[in-house]
Amino acid sequence: MDNEVMSWEKLYSKGPFFNLESPHEEVEFLHELFKKNNVETILDLGCGDGRHLYYFSKLGYRIYGLDNARTGLCLAQERLAQVGLATELVCADMTAIPWHDEFFGAVIVIQVIYHNPIEGIRRTIEEIHRVLKPGGWLFVTVSTCKPLGPMRYYSGVEIEPGTMVMDEGPDKGVPHHFFTMPELLDELSRFALIDLRWDSYSGACLLFRRR
Ligand SMILES: C[S@@+](CC[C@H](N)C(=O)[O-])C[C@H]1O[C@@H](n2cnc3c(N)ncnc32)[C@H](O)[C@@H]1O
Repeated sequence: MDNEVMSWEKLYSKGPFFNLESPHEEVEFLHELFKKNNVETILDLGCGDGRHLYYFSKLGYRIYGLDNARTGLCLAQERLAQVGLATELVCADMTAIPWHDEFFGAVIVIQVIYHNPIEGIRRTIEEIHRVLKPGGWLFVTVSTCKPLGPMRYYSGVEIEPGTMVMDEGPDKGVPHHFFTMPELLDELSRFALIDLRWDSYSGACLLFRRR
């Protein structure tokens, strides 16, 4: 088990980490968008302990979860079961998504995609492209290198340009790639950018459509 998985496993082994009742602030926007565009199947990539599985399942979507922290997935499953919900959860690395081509109408990647060196991020983007239907939606949130961005993440060792492995805090041992906006848009240039906004943690929230 690598450091990154261990770190999230450790966090989830202490109990739920994310509050089920506090999903990302853009979920209502996504629900409106998905409803308008008849999206039925969603992949929550890096679903963790399930706050977005819970939100979208309650609304009737078929939402599937992938995470490489098994303990997080167990928590997600338990929390869904407590309210009579269930979904397919897969323990896997986001660089190899075990669903067939063009399976999903949307993929959400909330505070996850940057947890890799750049090569892993590129493989993940290829995989997202593969499993999305043509015209499917990709919602991704990232920390950025904005000058006024979340500097609290900057304590660690830089293992390649822009990628730090944290040496303290809850993300100890976990790589974070800090994108510049031009770099991020370049990496995701296979997709059409539809919307860009900032959340209250100075994270960029980007909505793309598969060409
Ligand atoms: C900051 S949490 C976000 C969880 C969830 N998206 C949310 O917003 O509640 C990051 C999640 O990414 C998962 N993760 C990190 N690296 C991963 C990888 N290579 N493959 C799959 N999941 C990964 C972690 O286990 C953790 O659950």
